[in-house]
Amino acid sequence: MKFFADTAEIDDIKELAATGLLDGVTTNPSLIAKSGRDFMEVTKEICGLTDGPVSAEVVALDHATMMKEAEVLRKIADNVCIKVPLTIDGLQTCKALSEDGTMVNVTLCFSANQALLAAKAGATFISPFVGRHDDNGSNGMDLIRDIRTIYDNYLFDTEILVASVRHSTHVLESALIGADVMTAPPAVIKGLFKHILTDKGIEGFMADWEKTGQSIV
Ligand code: E4P
Repeated sequence: MKFFADTAEIDDIKELAATGLLDGVTTNPSLIAKSGRDFMEVTKEICGLTDGPVSAEVVALDHATMMKEAEVLRKIADNVCIKVPLTIDGLQTCKALSEDGTMVNVTLCFSANQALLAAKAGATFISPFVGRHDDNGSNGMDLIRDIRTIYDNYLFDTEILVASVRHSTHVLESALIGADVMTAPPAVIKGLFKHILTDKGIEGFMADWEKTGQSIV
């Protein structure tokens, strides 16, 4: 399962990239606004921190302008993945871009039928938003399960990119279902490394090791 960082904060991306476990980055207009950085500049910098896909989102709502924006965005770096919303115009743009060999992430997916359409449009990634789905009184994980079944039924190679991840259980369930990718805020990814018994175990081993008076290097 690939791990993407859902952020435009350079320091967080550097820290996660240093672990060797980061496979890409996703951004959206809200995350760019939060960073306070210039969109083109920060996206270029992020593309230099990972070899994996970096999603950069169009902000136009019509197909023709989305294509123009995508043309600008894909020149930033080879690993830019154009993010389009799950609308008729977004999927029209997805089809045109993917036929042209450009990576496309279709975002704001809230139903399995929307995911089916994105796969038919040749999306590289489909981004179902599990956290927002939960907030709305539905079960985000049921959506991931349904999309997995549909994609497997028809052997679509669109990757399921679980988005709007809020906690470690979202990650665990996504992995159990067989989602291809998950994107999460850096704090959620860093939290995955932690377990109270790991910390306690290290504490005990260190205390006993000290008693031996030995050193390895
Ligand atoms: C995905 O690509 C989105 O950027 C993101 O996961 C949205 O998450 P949110 O619902 O926490 O804003």
